[in-house]
Amino acid sequence: MFDSGFGGLTVARALIDLLPDEDLVYVGDTGRYPYGPRPLDEVRGFAHQITEHLLADHDVKLVVVACNTASAAALGELQQLSPVPVVGVIEPGVRSLVAATRNGHVGVIGTVGTIGSGAYQQAVAEAHPGVKLTCAACPGFVEFVERGETSSDQVHVLAERLLAPLVDATVDTLLLGCTHYPFLARTISDVMGREVVLVDSADETAFRVRALLGELDLARPAGERPGRHRFESSGDVEVFRRLGRQLLGPELDDVGAVSWG
Ligand code: DGL
Repeated sequence: MFDSGFGGLTVARALIDLLPDEDLVYVGDTGRYPYGPRPLDEVRGFAHQITEHLLADHDVKLVVVACNTASAAALGELQQLSPVPVVGVIEPGVRSLVAATRNGHVGVIGTVGTIGSGAYQQAVAEAHPGVKLTCAACPGFVEFVERGETSSDQVHVLAERLLAPLVDATVDTLLLGCTHYPFLARTISDVMGREVVLVDSADETAFRVRALLGELDLARPAGERPGRHRFESSGDVEVFRRLGRQLLGPELDDVGAVSWG
């Protein structure tokens, strides 16, 4: 699995909890984060490069694109070209969103790249045409998470400004359409109000992976040995280890370096 940095760890947590027997390789492309403000073509190139690395150097049996921006930019192509199944986070996120709404008026927040791509607007319109959707890009949120700053006054002030259109639209359910945002859930919930349900794609993505491994007969035998977890970063590995462990938990122990030549 991969993300631009620490955000995909929210999906890694769900995968490790749901599939404790599976081996996991996580690439955090912190040397090139953030993906959100970059042109989608560039992000697509990164997604191909990391997928090739996972296939060639780790012989993975399935790839999870644990990043909404990369899913929006490259999922279709990766699914066509890859010899193994590729799972993104947009469709699972939309499933959680639509399952949770009571009044049919929902919101999605994400990076500039994700919201600008129209991927969520299209996914909701195609699968659930009756649902009313309000979207907002939240530039700056990812940078706070990457600094380990998840509940400061500054992030609260930024959240009040960026989330105002969602508050005004009176959505009853808000999808955190960037894998970094669950780390800001408390701040986002304070601004949106307790009555607004926050959902993310982590659990649904893990369920999708479990279903696919089962269908394709690719699951490791239960109870044989605990899954092994490897983490790699294209940026500062010591920073990744320290902050990643704080965000994910004790499974993040050792971090290897990866570079793109
Ligand atoms: N976590 C990523 C996402 O879900 C990307 C954040 C970024 O690098 O801008 O979109």
